[in-house]
Amino acid sequence: MTFSITRHLPEDATADALCTDVRSGLTANPKTLPPKWFYDAHGSDLFEQITRLPNYYATRAEEEVLAGRAGDIAEATGARTLIELGSGSSTKTRHLLGALSGLHTYIPVDVSESALRESGGTLAHEQPGLTIYAQIADFTNRLILPPTPGPRLVALLGSTIGNLLPAERLAFYASVRTLLQPGDALLLGVDLVKDADVLVAAYADPAVTGAFNKNVLSVVNRELGADFDLDAFEHVAAWDAGHEWIEMRLRSRTAQTVKIPALDMVVDFAAGEDLRTEISAKFRLPDLASELRAAGMDLSRWFTTPAQQVGLALATPAHSGIPSAPECGLF
Ligand code: SAH
Ligand code: TRP
Repeated sequence: MTFSITRHLPEDATADALCTDVRSGLTANPKTLPPKWFYDAHGSDLFEQITRLPNYYATRAEEEVLAGRAGDIAEATGARTLIELGSGSSTKTRHLLGALSGLHTYIPVDVSESALRESGGTLAHEQPGLTIYAQIADFTNRLILPPTPGPRLVALLGSTIGNLLPAERLAFYASVRTLLQPGDALLLGVDLVKDADVLVAAYADPAVTGAFNKNVLSVVNRELGADFDLDAFEHVAAWDAGHEWIEMRLRSRTAQTVKIPALDMVVDFAAGEDLRTEISAKFRLPDLASELRAAGMDLSRWFTTPAQQVGLALATPAHSGIPSAPECGLF
C-alpha cells in the first residue's frame, strides 16, 4: 500500500494568498471573497452535509451517472493514472476507481488537508493495490504532478468547474490541456441549466448551506483576527439569468464595521449590502463543447441522467484544427 500526502504550497504561501484575496476582495465594489477559503475542516464537513440535502440534487444525479457509466468511461480511457482535482471526500470517485481495471495511481488534489487525510486514509485500506499520492494544492495554480503511467484521466467532478469565474475557467482549461498527451482525457462534471426555482432551492438552505457560506467569515476571523459577526449576515442564493449562474452572497443585515487587524483594515458594510462569495455556473451542452474546443479539446462523450439534471463530459486533446461533433452517450 502506498499512500503519501504532499503540500505544494508552503503554509505561509497559503496565508499570503488569503491576505491578498481578502484585501482585494473586500476593497472591491461589489465586495467578493473567493470560494476556496470555505474549505477548512469545518467547511469540508458542512459541504458533505450539503451533498445530502433533499433539494441539492447535483451530487445524487452525478453519482447516478457515474454508477451507470463508469464502465464506459473506463473503456473509453483505459486510464492508468486518475488525477482528481477538488477530490473532497472522493465518495463518487469510488465508481471510477472500481471500474478502471488497469488503474495504477490515484492523485487526489485538494486545498482541504482534512478532506485529503480522511478520504486518502480510507481509500488506502479499501484499495491496497493502488498507489495514492494526495496533493494539497490549489488547482487554479500550475499543477506539479509526479511521473506516473499513462493514459492519464484528469477529473473535475461535482460541478466545481461552475465555481470558477469565466476567465478562471478558460485559464483552467488551458492549464489542463498542457497536462494532456494523446490518449489522455478530461472528465468534467457539470450542472445543467434548468428551472430557476429548482436551482435556487438547491442553494437556499439557511441552516446547512447558510452555515457553509458563512464559514468563510469564520476562516477570516480565525486566520486574520477579524471580528465578523456571523449573525449579522444573511445567506442569499440568487439566480442570475443573464450569466446563467447561481450567486451565493452574504447580505449585511445592518450598517456595520468589521475590523481585520492582520491586514490593518476596517471594512464598512451598508445595510443590505451584499458580499459575493461564490458563483455556480450552469451549462448547456453546445456551449460547453465550444469552450472546450476553443481550449484544444474535443468533447468526445457525454453522459447524463434521464432527466438531464447534470452531465459528465469526456474531453480529449484535439488532433486537428477541425472541430468534431460530440458523440452523445445518453442514458
Ligand atoms: N469532488 C467532490 C467535492 C466537490 S466540493 C464532489 O464532487 O462532491 C469542491 C472541492 O474542491 C472541495 O473539496 C474543495 O476543498 C476543493 N477546492 C475548491 N477550490 C479548490 C482549488 N482552487 N484548488 C483545489 N481544491 C479546491
Ligand atoms: N460545485 C458544486 C456546486 O456549485 C458544489 C458546491 C460548491 C456547493 N459550493 C457550494 C453547493 C455551495 C452548495 C453551496 O453546486
